[in-house]
Amino acid sequence: MSVLFFKRFLKRPFQIASIIPSSKALVERVASKIDFEQARVIAEYGPGEGVHSRELAQRMRPDAQLLLFELDPAFSRDLKRQFAADSRVQVINANAGTIRRELAQRGIEECNYIISGIPFSILEIEKKRDLLRQTHDALVPGGAFIIYQVTNELKQHATEFADADSEYFLQNIPPMFITVFRKAAASRNGRNGAVPQRFSSQAAR
Ligand SMILES: C[S@@+](CC[C@H](N)C(=O)[O-])C[C@H]1O[C@@H](n2cnc3c(N)ncnc32)[C@H](O)[C@@H]1O
Repeated sequence: MSVLFFKRFLKRPFQIASIIPSSKALVERVASKIDFEQARVIAEYGPGEGVHSRELAQRMRPDAQLLLFELDPAFSRDLKRQFAADSRVQVINANAGTIRRELAQRGIEECNYIISGIPFSILEIEKKRDLLRQTHDALVPGGAFIIYQVTNELKQHATEFADADSEYFLQNIPPMFITVFRKAAASRNGRNGAVPQRFSSQAAR
């Protein structure tokens, strides 16, 4: 178990929301949802001590970028230390809700993928909806927002996404729903296609 992770949990239990990092199996399963050949910009919300970030950085193209949004200052310092030698990775000690401003400051238009480990279920409804809107707007058409959560309640709020596909993954303590929300692909006139909302019934809510 990561000592830093447990210490930060004791300090901010609601923000960290877990006493241990994701399992190796969960990390690999989440990474398997990403087309790394195609991904140029990946953002991660709530990397914590970096268990997903290290896998993403290892699989990413040499010309790709990884933006890590972590609220906790101690985790952020540790992530900066871990990725000091990797210029593709930027650690942003800020709320994930600032993503569009942070992208603009770096001259980045949009992300191909956004991965999230933050505890969405404890956010107030308006903050949750706002973060979903910011996330949707920060993605390229056809881009994906990938979350792992103990509950699958976010599905009912993520109405701006064209599609959501969930699975219940048992090889983690606790088991998690992994859901891939897909932004509508661009239509031929360059604007987002009006794809009707279609949520997969593959997994229970
Ligand atoms: C359950 S931990 C997940 C850590 C890691 N991703 C893992 O899978 O083991 C949640 C993390 O999200 C961070 N967090 C919570 N709310 C956040 C927000 N609004 N923006 C950025 N990070 C946030 C917490 O500080 C914590 O590091």
